[in-house]
Amino acid sequence: MSLIEKIRAKARNSMKRIALPEGDEPRTVAAAKIVAEEGIADPVLITPASIADPANASRLSAYARALYELRKAKGLTEEAAERLVRDPMYYGMMMVKCGDADGLVSGAVHSTGDMLRPALQVIRTAPGMKLVSASFLIECPDTSIGESGLVVYADCVVNPCPDAEGLANIAVATAKTAKGLCGITEPRVAMLSFSTKGSAEHELVDKVRKATEIARSLAPGLLIDGELQFDAALLPEVAAIKAKDSPVAGRANIFIFPDLQSGNIGYKITQRLGGAASFAVLQGLASPCNDLSRGCSVDDIVNTIAATSVQACIPE
Ligand code: ACO
Repeated sequence: MSLIEKIRAKARNSMKRIALPEGDEPRTVAAAKIVAEEGIADPVLITPASIADPANASRLSAYARALYELRKAKGLTEEAAERLVRDPMYYGMMMVKCGDADGLVSGAVHSTGDMLRPALQVIRTAPGMKLVSASFLIECPDTSIGESGLVVYADCVVNPCPDAEGLANIAVATAKTAKGLCGITEPRVAMLSFSTKGSAEHELVDKVRKATEIARSLAPGLLIDGELQFDAALLPEVAAIKAKDSPVAGRANIFIFPDLQSGNIGYKITQRLGGAASFAVLQGLASPCNDLSRGCSVDDIVNTIAATSVQACIPE
């Protein structure tokens, strides 16, 4: 069974309520029909017409009030909150914030930034999390790699230049995603660099070493090591030479990139040259929200709704 088949099967047992702010977009409408018919989730298609429906007036004003309270310290006025909440994206975020939906999926029309910004402003980070980031779940054709061919990369989407504390947060969040969403029972986290265990000295390497220490203090039970080059993290024969006492080197299933440039380039190389299938999810939010690619298929939307439902079941 592929990872995505497993995620769909898990979602069937949870049937979470997922808000879809692009509720009049044809692929989204088709995906909503499939998830409802297959029992993957309870989809809520949000459209300007459904928001403006007089039967919805009390909910609309409750969301506007809640949005104003949430953002007034940032300069949002009551009038602006009333206007903003009529935007299906903000309306969907407020549904999740107020407990009327368990998660949200969008991005068939909106850009990543247009979906991320309201999520960061309204849903905000989960308790104990300082940053929202994204994991790429990658299935490699070679099943000797990672966890029977499955590896997780982060952050490849959100944070252009995390500091050591941010990087440590990303590592801990990714281990949680690997466990809760991918079913990886023993996350083994490699903190990547261009140096392995002191083979090079540079302030960029220092950042990765410091992040490794912070992540260990945040999650004492987690198998995490750094700094490691990608080959030392992945391959036992390289680990045996470069990092032979490491509990992670040569057997990592989670790879934390030092910044967004390396992470984004890394996942695309894996995909394009390695022939791997990949799938991205956001992590670290107080409730799950996920972004689609604007070129997504109906099937991609169904998969993302399923993943969002499963994330909604992961305990804090
Ligand atoms: N985690 C948690 N909160 C955050 C984060 C984060 N990573 N980043 C920003 N925030 C918060 C801020 O604190 C701020 O909160 P506040 O308004 O309550 O004070 C709010 O979010 C907005 O922050 P800004 O810095 O004003 O937002 P910005 O306009 O910079 O947008 C964004 C944030 C969209 C995430 C930006 O960092 C970004 O564009 N990242 C790169 C996205 C991208 O293009 N990725 C690559 C393509 S995707 C792909 O290849 C699959």
